[in-house]
This record gives sequence, structure tokens and C-alpha cells, in this order.
Amino acid sequence: MKVLLVGGGGREHALAWALSKSPLLTKLWAAPGNAGIAELAECVPIAAEDVSGLLAFARDRAVDLVVVGPEAPLIAGLADSCAAAGIRCFGPSAAAARLEGSKAFAREVADAAGVPGPRWRRFDDPAAARGYVRDQGAPIVVKADGLAAGKGVVVAATVPEAEAAVADIMESRVHGAAAGAAVVVEECLVGEEVSFFALCDGEAALPLGAAQDHKRVGEGDTGPNTGGMGAYSPPPAFTDALRDEAMARVVRPTLAEMVRRAAPFRGVLFVGLMLTATGPRLIEFNARFGDPECQALMLRLRSDLLEALLAACDGRLADTDLRWSDAHSLVVVAAARGYPGAYGKGSTIRGLDRAAAVPRARVFHAGTGAGPDGAVLANGGRVLGVGGTGSTLREAHDAAYEATAAIDWPEGFYRRDIGHRALR
Ligand code: AMP
Ligand code: GLY
Repeated sequence: MKVLLVGGGGREHALAWALSKSPLLTKLWAAPGNAGIAELAECVPIAAEDVSGLLAFARDRAVDLVVVGPEAPLIAGLADSCAAAGIRCFGPSAAAARLEGSKAFAREVADAAGVPGPRWRRFDDPAAARGYVRDQGAPIVVKADGLAAGKGVVVAATVPEAEAAVADIMESRVHGAAAGAAVVVEECLVGEEVSFFALCDGEAALPLGAAQDHKRVGEGDTGPNTGGMGAYSPPPAFTDALRDEAMARVVRPTLAEMVRRAAPFRGVLFVGLMLTATGPRLIEFNARFGDPECQALMLRLRSDLLEALLAACDGRLADTDLRWSDAHSLVVVAAARGYPGAYGKGSTIRGLDRAAAVPRARVFHAGTGAGPDGAVLANGGRVLGVGGTGSTLREAHDAAYEATAAIDWPEGFYRRDIGHRALR
């Protein structure tokens, strides 16, 4: 089986690692990949957003399966192009990826499916949005309708802050014209946040595990939001009963509603949940694996990932099950100083061999590139994900931090408190 993996972050390194363990795999390419993925796959210089370039490559090399990591190519229709060319693709169609691409669409689907969520309204007139905000009072959440690189959500503590968010998104269009054409204003949910993943084949779904992510850049969960500074799995607060509830009340009704809308969802449905006092409620959907959550999940998956992705592509999930290790996992993200703001590139990362030698640790690369003489250079904001496993979360934490400490990269930083809520 010849596989093309699309993307070049820590999520894709973890997927490449899991795929490369499959006896079904005969060849793995990654576009564009990174220095860590290059040890497992042949990296090709095609951007993850270059749908026509990816399709041409897949055709040319007779790729059997395209596995898509990030959302942008899905929303741009890579899965549709593959389907038209008769190439299997793991990831939803553009119509189904709207669950991530439009927050208002996601809420409409969730309401139609009876999924528990916050009170919400969509506005394309900023004055009306401000009126509603004043009417509802704070705290309140204001979201750009379209994709905004993870920065389009403002959890406003006061009414003026929420009104300013409406102005930024709709009038100044700080996230671009398309993303800010409308806003979604939501009731502010309170509780513990969990990222839950389900593998979907359009009709059937399998739970793919859950993780908790630290979104803020600073220790104690302070400072600006990032793509995620660390994750751990399984989340202690997310019991088996809550997982079953999430499957029954969120995932399965959403899949049925997408079938009704002639946009069946195939791929990974990422369900952002708030565990509120009255049960789990939907924060958002994404149409892909989370990053770094995927790294934490792949460290615990025992089943053949490639076999599972093929079952999802071919509509065979009802007859599939997944095996997980009982181990806990924890991932610490190392980022370039300055991230999520401006940061430098090209600094040298040393000590990766020492880190890899730490028992129960594994280093995933995100924004790295190859330098001369085998050097590994920083080439992005989030640069490494250092994972640990153990029979307790504490052991996983200690392995991950021992490996992180072995890495010599003065231009980088990491949070020292990943998992703090669960380790208390
Ligand atoms: P998103 O970009 O949709 O992942 O939202 C970013 C973050 O905003 C989420 O991870 C939550 O912490 C927070 N958030 C989004 N919607 C709500 C809501 N309705 N209530 C409380 N927090 C929210
Ligand atoms: N870590 C959150 C995300 O991937 O969206």
C-alpha cells in the first residue's frame, strides 16, 4: 500500500510513525513533511495547501491512499479531487469539512441533530450583533464565522470587550474579509475542556480516544492562545460513561444529520467538549486530528492505524475495533521564542539523540528542517513535541520532561506545567 501523508507538523510525524508500523505499508511519502518525518518517509516539496500539486503527485505515483493531516486542504476540496480521480483519501469532502470551516454551519447541524450546546445566534450585521451582546450580558463568546487560524474566538469577560471583538472581526476584518463576513455569538460555557476524537466512515463511528490540550502559551494557562503547548491522554475527567454519552449524543446524531444533508462525514471528527455541570456540551467541531492531541493518542494506539483508516475510507468501521494501551501519555511542545507572535528561524537543535534515548520517551518533530551535516534546524513556531508514556500520568510526565530537558535549544522554550490540572 503506497501512502501519501499531507502535512508537516507534529501531528503528521505521529501519524507517519503509526503508519510506518503497519505491515500493509510499502511506501510512504510526506508533503511537505519535516526533518523527523524524513526518517520514516520520503518528503516531497509540495505544500499541504497545494491541492492540484498533491493530486498530480498522487496520480503520477499511483498512490493508494492519501492521508490528510491539516484542515486547509480538506476545506479546499482535496478529498473531492481525489474521489473524482479514483484515489482513496482519508479526510472529509469540502462539504463535510464545513463543520470546521463555518462555525454557524456547525451550530446549525448540531442543533438539527439535537446535540447539547450553548445558546447562539449568527449575525451578518455588526449593529445587530452588538445589540444582542448588550442584551445577553457578559461573559459571552464572539466568534468569526470562517477560518481564522485558531484566533477567531474571543471569550469576552465584559460587554465592551465583546463589542470590540464584533468590531475587530466584522468592521476591521482582522481575520480577513471572508472569515469576518459574519459572527456567531454564544453563551459562555463553564467547565473542563476535552478534545474527543471519533473515526467516521460516513455512517458508523468508532471512538478514537480523548486528550486535554493546553492552549495558552504561558504557565498556569495564561497569555495568548496558541495551536497547543502540550497534551495528555486519557483525560482523567473524561470517564467511559462520558465517552459513551459523547458518541450517543454528539457523534452519531451529527453523522446522521450530515447524511441527511448529502454530505456524509468521513475522517476524524474532532469534538471540542465542555464538561459542564449539566453534562458535556459542544464547543466546536474540527474536521481532523488535533495537534498536539494526535501525538498523545498515537503514543497509546495499539491497532494498525493504516488498517483503521482504510476501514473508514471503505465504509467498514461497523466491523472494526481499535485496541489501546492502558498507558498514559503526555506531550510537551517546544516552540521558538516569540511564538505565537514573531519568532526567528534557522537555529540549531542539539541533543535529540539524548532525548530519544530516554526510556518511554519519543520526540516528534513539528517545524523542523534539515541543515548541513545532519543538523536539525528550527523552521516554525511549534518545533518539537516531546512525548512520554507510563503506567500513570505522573510517569508519562516525568519521561516527557526528562527527554525535553536533554534537548539543547537555547532559542526555544516550553511550558513546565503540562498536565498540571490532572496531576494535582
Ligand atoms: P475554538 O477556536 O473554537 O477552538 O475556540 C477557542 C477556545 O475558546 C476553545 O478552546 C474554548 O476554550 C473557548 N470557547 C469557544 N467557545 C466557547 C463557549 N461557547 N464557551 C466557553 N468557551 C468557549
Ligand atoms: N490543539 C488544538 C487543535 O489542533 O485545534
